[in-house]
Amino acid sequence: MKILFVGDVVGRTGRHALSCRLHRLIDEHQIDLVIVNGENAAAGFGLTARIADDLFDMGIDVITSGNHIWDKREIYEHLDREERLLRPANYPPGLPGRGSGLFATSSGIKVGVINLEGRVFMNNLDCPFRVADQLVRELRSHTPIILVDFHGEATSEKMAMGYYLDGQVSAVIGTHTHVQTADERILSGGTAYITDVGMTGSRDAVIGIRKELAIEKFLTQLPVRFDVAKKDSWLCGILVEVDGETGRALGVQRIQEAAD
Ligand code: FE2
Repeated sequence: MKILFVGDVVGRTGRHALSCRLHRLIDEHQIDLVIVNGENAAAGFGLTARIADDLFDMGIDVITSGNHIWDKREIYEHLDREERLLRPANYPPGLPGRGSGLFATSSGIKVGVINLEGRVFMNNLDCPFRVADQLVRELRSHTPIILVDFHGEATSEKMAMGYYLDGQVSAVIGTHTHVQTADERILSGGTAYITDVGMTGSRDAVIGIRKELAIEKFLTQLPVRFDVAKKDSWLCGILVEVDGETGRALGVQRIQEAAD
């Protein structure tokens, strides 16, 4: 079976790239399940219920997220309601939403998805490695096919998670830095890995934001209102082929496609 994971969708520009390319990718590669990181889908910061619904209507099966999921308060209730929308599992207990789920493809194959956030140069959260242990154990009683979105800043922490979960999950996919890394591979235990899947949005920009504004911020160190860049949008993602019986990755392929 084939699973497409699309990297961080940034604002309207990213949603446009997704709508241009998604259906062709699904048809071309016979994709069974689509996961998208949507934490920046609403004007570059956070997600709204309406935009989450639009993404599901587009054909997305699961939306993962990260630190920016909390930016728009209106999503909090939706996190409790919508089981296909995940936020990192390692936030303090009692917060809205959930960090993992069990989903089914149209042919009935069960797929577990786990969303975690790194702690290096990020929020002071529970240990993502120990939280992963518990969630993997729970999901493996239902299916051997499990994908992990590890939303982190530091390459080292993401690589460590890849090796830590090697042989226990089908893929560990890094998100958050918005720049696709060229290190995709299948680790020795059968887990597909990439340090960062990249982003879906404007590439004529600083990680999706208008470059003039990002430069101004670095030059002045003053607060600057960031806007999503509009030109030259592309979709970045990764395609993972998984053995449906064992959950082992059989193939991994990076995707970078310009929007129409
Ligand atoms: Fe992030």
